[in-house]
Amino acid sequence: MKGIILAGGKGTRLYPMTKVVSKQLLPIYDKPLIYYPLSMLLLAKIREILIISTPEDIDNYRTLLGDGSRLGVSFTYKVQETPRGLADAFILGEEFIGDDNVCLILGDNVFYGQNMSSILWKACERMTGATIFGYPVKDAHSFGVVEFDSDHKVVSIEEKPAQPKSNYAVPGLYFYDNRVVEIAKNVKPSARGEIEITAVNNEYLKLGELHVELLGRGIAWLDTGTPEGMLKAAEYVEAVQSRQGFYMSCIEEIAWRRGFITAEQLMALGQELKMTDYGQYLISLAEAAR
Ligand code: DAU
Repeated sequence: MKGIILAGGKGTRLYPMTKVVSKQLLPIYDKPLIYYPLSMLLLAKIREILIISTPEDIDNYRTLLGDGSRLGVSFTYKVQETPRGLADAFILGEEFIGDDNVCLILGDNVFYGQNMSSILWKACERMTGATIFGYPVKDAHSFGVVEFDSDHKVVSIEEKPAQPKSNYAVPGLYFYDNRVVEIAKNVKPSARGEIEITAVNNEYLKLGELHVELLGRGIAWLDTGTPEGMLKAAEYVEAVQSRQGFYMSCIEEIAWRRGFITAEQLMALGQELKMTDYGQYLISLAEAAR
């Protein structure tokens, strides 16, 4: 299973914040936004990851994350010249994906919750078809939305419907078998001119191979699409971390817990950041492991 993080886009809905800084590099409390989706791929034990961003921003991601060797994983980078739509990730990523299955996560999606690892593993283990998720939200109109029939069977996914047919939004976390590359290539641009991930999902639905897993109250899927959403997400992270003492979406910790790096390597990463609480946290984990 390969992983792709889509971290491009113009971020116009967050101007002027994102005029010169890519949205997914903005902080959510104490770490860049991209750490949160990246942590999901690492939790899922996905070690080959493609990061897609704009021509202006790609080098900043490279500077931030490097080639991945420090985390015991591999990062490669690809430019998306214009934000053509989410399904473009599979066209740009064709060579990277090769013959593998692939997980796409949007660079601005933040998840947290007790069963997250097993939810991710279950989706990875399904070798054919597509797995997406349904998450209850108060107002689903700005998302992909799942429509169910009276037997709770999924009948369609609608992109940003004016009148949502359910309150189940589709978060930006998708698992596909290798057919996704050809399916994406055949997607026609929507009325807003994008090749939509929702069209890909509907194609799998037509094939009878779309699995929609419903997420419950135990999982937090936080909105980062507005300044208010970003502030609330930051407050959530602060509240969890200061209460529990565990860091949320700490990529170095996950790399160590998953066995990608040793406690010594974790210590070295902590030492580099020792002037911050984040660095001290890594050091304390490495010391406890001795
Ligand atoms: O967050 C979940 C939602 O994400 C889904 O429910 C929707 O079905 C899906 O279309 C998407 O909706 P958004 O309106 O949130 O997508 P947005 O255009 O904001 O892009 C999401 C992220 O992907 C954002 O960080 C920018 C990046 N992006 C977007 C496009 C269209 C790219 O890197 N390249 C692109 O071409």
